[in-house]
Amino acid sequence: MEINSIKIPKTQYDIYPLITQRWSPRSFDDKPISEEQLAELFEAASWAASAFNGQPWEYIYAFRGTEAFEMFWDLLKPGNQPWAKNASVLVLSIANRDMGNGGINPWAEHDLGMANAQLLLQAKHRDIYGHMMAGFDRQKAIEILNLSEFQNPVCLIALGYLGAPEKLEEPYRSKEHAPRNRKMVEEFTRELR
Ligand SMILES: Cc1cc2nc3c(=O)[nH]c(=O)nc-3n(C[C@H](O)[C@H](O)[C@H](O)COP(=O)(O)O)c2cc1C
Repeated sequence: MEINSIKIPKTQYDIYPLITQRWSPRSFDDKPISEEQLAELFEAASWAASAFNGQPWEYIYAFRGTEAFEMFWDLLKPGNQPWAKNASVLVLSIANRDMGNGGINPWAEHDLGMANAQLLLQAKHRDIYGHMMAGFDRQKAIEILNLSEFQNPVCLIALGYLGAPEKLEEPYRSKEHAPRNRKMVEEFTRELR
C-alpha cells in the first residue's frame, strides 16, 4: 500500500491539503537537500508571526557527511539515532529569549514553534519531510555550541526526501506503516458562555 494513503488522514472538515499531508517519517531517501532549497525553507519559517515581530528563532544546521552532522547525531537519544542518521540535514531550532533590554521574551518558544510549522509546510510543498526531535542532550548542545543563557535549543529537526519503510529496522519500520491519529475537536475545545 502506498505509504501516504496510510499517513494522510480522513478529516471531518475540509482541511488545506499541505496540513494533512505533513507527517513525521523515519525513513529518508539518499537524495540530498541543496543549500538553496534549505534556505528557502528557512525563509518560509521567517514569515511566521511573532510577538512584537521579535523573530526569536535561530537555526544551526549540518548536512549528512560532515563532522558537524556526526556531532548533532551524537547528541540524539538512542531511540532517534538509528533512523535520524539517514536525514539529509539535521537542523537545531533555537528560541532566543533575549528581549534586547535585559528582559526575557516569554513568547520565544511559541514563536519558534510557529516558524518550525511553516518550515515543515514549505518543506512538504517541495516533497521534503521533517521529523522533530526533543530527544537529544540539550545541555551538551548548549556547551558544544557555546549558547548563551538566552538561547534555548528546543528541538532538532531531521529533514529529507521520503525513503522506503523497508530501509528501516524494527520497530521503526512498523511505525512507518502506522496510521496517524488526533483528538476530536470537541475533546480540546469548549465554548465559554
Ligand atoms: C517538539 C517535538 C518533539 C518531538 N520529539 C520527538 C523525538 O524525540 N522522537 C521522535 O521519534 N519523534 C518526536 N516528535 C515527533 C512526534 O512524535 C510526532 O510529531 C507526533 O507523533 C505526531 O505525528 P505526525 O508529526 O506524523 O503528525 C516530536 C515532535 C515535536 C513537535
